[in-house]
Amino acid sequence: MTSLRAHAAAGDLLTGFAVVPSLLRDDAAYTNVVREQANLIVAENAMKWAALRPSATRYDFDDADMLLNFAEQGRMKMRGHNLLWHRGIPQWFTAMATPANAKQLLQAHIETVVGRYAGRMHSWDVVNEAIQISDGRPDGLRSSPWLRLVGDDYIEVAFRSARRADPQALLTYNEYGIEAENAQDEAKRQAVLLLLRRMRARHVPIDAVGVQSHISAGTKYGDGLLRFIRGVRELDLQVFVTEMDVNDRSLAPAIAARDATVAQTYKDYLDLVLSEPAVTVIVLWGVSDRDTWLNHEDSRQDRVPERPLLFDDRFRPKQDFYAVRDAFDQRHPVHPSLNG
Ligand code: G3I
Repeated sequence: MTSLRAHAAAGDLLTGFAVVPSLLRDDAAYTNVVREQANLIVAENAMKWAALRPSATRYDFDDADMLLNFAEQGRMKMRGHNLLWHRGIPQWFTAMATPANAKQLLQAHIETVVGRYAGRMHSWDVVNEAIQISDGRPDGLRSSPWLRLVGDDYIEVAFRSARRADPQALLTYNEYGIEAENAQDEAKRQAVLLLLRRMRARHVPIDAVGVQSHISAGTKYGDGLLRFIRGVRELDLQVFVTEMDVNDRSLAPAIAARDATVAQTYKDYLDLVLSEPAVTVIVLWGVSDRDTWLNHEDSRQDRVPERPLLFDDRFRPKQDFYAVRDAFDQRHPVHPSLNG
């Protein structure tokens, strides 16, 4: 088996997984797969506020430090996720933040966290999931605690702080629900483009857009997403696929047919997005089906475990592993010596 990272590198792509520190410490099979297959990792949870900030006065960097050291030892790049999100805000923050102090708390967090790893990170998800059309604002912004506490310019404040703390890391706006061919996702795509244009007009430092890509097996993705990616590229921004997995919620439980449909969905989606040169990173949201978040949130109604990732619960590559590798080769065939 030749590695995903070798096939990705041939097409100038970075690829890898969202990872969990405790598994990298205790689970050799898990760790081997990450080492062999990834040239980039991201913390699934370990760099969120909830993980880094046990209290207002304390930062806990043990897990985050360990991940970046692991990445560097394995010649992998690392993405940071995330600096600002409406979910997972620590209780102490909610209790003490006011419109008078929230901006300073946000800036201090970003400067401390980004500054600690400055020069060593590939990229940072600076703002995560800031658009929510159903909240009814004309600009599409979610009525998140950050908007209420820091004000309308909270996104700008976050990006400027991140750039000050690390001039090298690629600063990313990360969003979900912008992949599908339906009116809801299209409205969200338009709102994201509007936000990006406003940021560009105000010279807010931003380098990339993350399309999370929590997608559904058997669904056809298409022109709406391509138009969005081209719109992002016209703003001179890269596009990262940041959290890909393929849920099989709508499929019958029989495993062979489910796996075949999931693999085909991976292939079709990646063929589509990799036809656009702006797409430079593909990250899977987890390593094996054993550990996917989809069995905790959004699980199947029949409670059958989902099979959304490239490795099964015993870390054997599934059909979708080969589908992803083939999609990377479609972008740029690997040298024959790598095929085996
Ligand atoms: O670590 C504790 C553990 O000590 C405790 O026993 C257990 C009890 O529920 O909870 C554990 O923490 C959970 C953590 O995942 C680790 O498993 C949290 O409750 C749970 O909320 C957390 O869920 C994560 C979720 O974000 C919220 O932070 C998922 O793993 C993670 O996959 C998910 O990732 C998000 C991205 O950040 C943004 N985009 C959507 C994506 C999926 O929701």
